Amino acid sequence: MSNQRHLQQFIDQLANNISSNVFVKISLGNYQGNEKELKNIYVRRVKIKRTDMLSFTYRYKSRDIIKNFPVAEGITLVGHFMSNDFKIATLFTTEKEVILEHGKNQQISMREQMLSKAVTPDLSHNKEKKRLIQASGKPYLVELKLTDSEGNIFKNAQDKYRQINQYIEILNSLIKELPAGTIKQVVDMGSGKGYLTFALYDYLQNVLKETIKVTGVEYREDLVLLCNAIAKQSGFKQLDFVQGTIENYEVSAIDLLIALHACDTATDDAIFKGIKASAKLIVVAPCCHKQIRREMEKHKVKNEISVLTKYGIFMERQAEMVTDGIRALILEYFGYKTKIFEFISDAHTPKNVLVVGVKSADQDQSKNLETKKQEIKQKILETKTYFGIGYHHLERLLMQEQLM
Ligand SMILES: C[S@@+](CC[C@H](N)C(=O)[O-])C[C@H]1O[C@@H](n2cnc3c(N)ncnc32)[C@H](O)[C@@H]1O
Repeated sequence: MSNQRHLQQFIDQLANNISSNVFVKISLGNYQGNEKELKNIYVRRVKIKRTDMLSFTYRYKSRDIIKNFPVAEGITLVGHFMSNDFKIATLFTTEKEVILEHGKNQQISMREQMLSKAVTPDLSHNKEKKRLIQASGKPYLVELKLTDSEGNIFKNAQDKYRQINQYIEILNSLIKELPAGTIKQVVDMGSGKGYLTFALYDYLQNVLKETIKVTGVEYREDLVLLCNAIAKQSGFKQLDFVQGTIENYEVSAIDLLIALHACDTATDDAIFKGIKASAKLIVVAPCCHKQIRREMEKHKVKNEISVLTKYGIFMERQAEMVTDGIRALILEYFGYKTKIFEFISDAHTPKNVLVVGVKSADQDQSKNLETKKQEIKQKILETKTYFGIGYHHLERLLMQEQLM
């Protein structure tokens, strides 16, 4: 049988199994595409707002991303994945497993095996995901108006609750990359209403059972008063919020620095404090990249990409990438390993990029270090020249203190 027919037969079986309610799940593996750190994808059936959907869990090395699709679209997507970058798929039904595999000489084969024991599919479809931050028994979620006193999440708070859990999942996997007990002092710069600050404290203290101190820095006094009152009510003794600017925050020890959506250069101010404190982990979700955009617009350099950046939206995206790209280079200059990735679907917010710096344990102490630093400096200079950037706020702060 030809490859195309095997593939079509497999997709037809998948569609039939779903419509006859014997579909359990499907896994796609042996990924050979270009997406870095993607390992496999699991697909299950879910009901969202009373509509049948297929939920795809994209499993990366250190995180999962979930995307839901209408059933027909999801089936097409499985076909697309199996025609391209995934080389094996296992379809689990209530009674058998069907395996589609790309073998040697690009031949696709299909085989089946009956299960020794029938499996009952989860026909409720809406199995609740086990969240790291459970909704019940959390006075702070009630006070922040995300749940009622029974722990039911308000309809208009579902997205926020999901986001909080996604942040915590990511932070959890980053923290687990570090030696146990590394994170003792946490600072959240521009903590706002404290959604994440509370959840992070709760998770570190009550789930991971770490002895920690968490501080939120925020210039809006009303929010600081509110958050301190909620912390007190919740019995979170080692969580406090201080009123003031990030710029003026007196750095002492910081192991984990977070700043989520601290506007424009406030993100630079936060990273600067983290670098100065030699924080082990720096996690920021930048927001509006005006400083660099202004620089780019002021100097209007003519280069190969001018054809794109004449459009406002592309200029905005370019400014975002350049700002965060230089931030990552600066973190590397100070011995951090960096990652930049999307942490939530852009359907929730376009400000969905995380810049992460993990202080390298195996820091190069040799004279190579100086060479490496000079190379990074050169790259920063070239990037600034190419995009017509007079200065980058974070670099300027570090230079003013003669740290760079
Ligand atoms: C968009 S909100 C994000 C709040 C919170 N981090 C979150 O993700 O839910 C940004 C917060 O940072 C505060 N902020 C912005 N710049 C600041 C600065 N330079 N110093 C202190 N707070 C700042 C604002 O008052 C606001 O509450």
